[in-house]
Amino acid sequence: MATIQMRVSPEDLSQLTKGSERIPEAAILVIFGASGDLTKRKLLPALFHLEQVGLLPERFSIVGVARRKLGDEFAADMRAGIVEFGGVDAGDAKLECFAKRIGYFALNFDSSADYEALKAELDRIDKEKGIGGNRLFYLATAPEYFAGIIQNLGAQGMARPGQGRVGVVIEKPFGHDLASARQLNQEVNAVFDESQVFRIDHYLGKETVQNILVFRFANGIFEPIWNRNYIDHVQITAAETLGVEGRGPFYEKAGALRDVVQNHMMELLSFVTMEPPSSFDSDAVRREKVKVWRAIPPVPVLNAVRGQYGPGIVEGQRVAGYRDEERVNPESGTETYAGLRLGIENWRWAGVPFFLRAGKRLKKRATEISIQFKQPPLLIFNRLANQGACHEIQPNLLTIRIQPDEGIALRFGAKVPTAPEMTVCPVNMDFDYAAAFGESSANGYERLLLDAMLGDQTLFSHRDGVEINWALYTPILEAWAEKQPEVFPNYFAGTWGPECSDHLLEKAGRVWRNDLGKRS
Ligand code: BG6
Repeated sequence: MATIQMRVSPEDLSQLTKGSERIPEAAILVIFGASGDLTKRKLLPALFHLEQVGLLPERFSIVGVARRKLGDEFAADMRAGIVEFGGVDAGDAKLECFAKRIGYFALNFDSSADYEALKAELDRIDKEKGIGGNRLFYLATAPEYFAGIIQNLGAQGMARPGQGRVGVVIEKPFGHDLASARQLNQEVNAVFDESQVFRIDHYLGKETVQNILVFRFANGIFEPIWNRNYIDHVQITAAETLGVEGRGPFYEKAGALRDVVQNHMMELLSFVTMEPPSSFDSDAVRREKVKVWRAIPPVPVLNAVRGQYGPGIVEGQRVAGYRDEERVNPESGTETYAGLRLGIENWRWAGVPFFLRAGKRLKKRATEISIQFKQPPLLIFNRLANQGACHEIQPNLLTIRIQPDEGIALRFGAKVPTAPEMTVCPVNMDFDYAAAFGESSANGYERLLLDAMLGDQTLFSHRDGVEINWALYTPILEAWAEKQPEVFPNYFAGTWGPECSDHLLEKAGRVWRNDLGKRS
């Protein structure tokens, strides 16, 4: 397929970003659950990336908090993580200096005496470094500890802003159904004002996700056709080749719908479908997201399908089935694949079907949004279909590749040169992020950590949004819990998921696009 490419030079890029950086004020970042994978793989590498580009304040300390008694080995371990997962050279001159910002505090999550000692330690660091009271608490523990930590922070008076800014970042999962999410929201808001709360969804930190808004609202040509008059249907896929990667106990309780659909995919959906906000301001953006989520009617259980992988071959490697994964029930009924059809009942989208699917151990890693446009009203060239080297006229398709091979492609029909008759062949205009802007080692947490330190909630979930999404999915989860699937596993690892998912689209006269990834 043909490709049209554009390129921004590194000089242009540095010009473009210059002067737009906002450096947060001095602060202490306290990470609860710091001995877990997230801190080492994502948070510390992201913080170091901010350090590299000069976006961390000079007076800035990181305090890792976990149960284990650790000393200096914590900073050394984080440093190793930055090199391993952050694409950073071990000899990077800034590493030494950055490592000095990292401290550790051992704490038993239920001990109020330990929180008192933590408060004293933070006050000490604050005084020593002249931080001025700004604190950001990051909850990266298992979710069952969230409420207890928040209560203890409240009880010690650590949630009150005092002289500086105080915020709390809460990792997913935020609840496991509507009732638990509501309860957690109440517990959080009993201690922290909503303006201090940053519920994180790391998808919103991805450049390609933020770019959906730029694509739609910074360009005049797409918005007029971004509606039911021109769009036939939308598919959103989050396909992973990975399995549960040792997270069996967590995943057993989660499943694909809770783990990825209810949060990440709904964020993608909102960016694709929301009305233009009046400004790129936190309240304005979040209001529009909530409005579009509210317009989604309950999804009939018949329009949701689930699957679980059996053994198979993924990227040339033989892999075990889900039930044979470490610490997974050998008769598990947990879904590793979820697919569904939903609608949006508003003026813009009424009648347009949206198909969402997320799965582990699928054929290819690809998170993609495909917007399929309607065929032209009269297909004057269609009589030539299948007569030549090129095939049927295909509808225009806009694909937004969230990851990997980040980019956007637009498929349209072109005349095949020199063909004796009007033979139409699909070609692509393909915008490739890396080719245009260079490769990036950012993992998405850079933007989110920076925004949380700056107090900007635009890219974080609001309590209403979380509850609306749980309200949508809780009935499906309940129905699934009540009726165990009859035939699990129902797809081989390394395929595109269960047949029932194909049938879901067949019923709607559509098919899943499985030629995901870069178009050229
Ligand atoms: C996490 C889920 O939130 O997102 C994981 O818990 C999933 O199961 C991951 O693998 C996907 O994130 P990404 O950024 O790799 O697409």
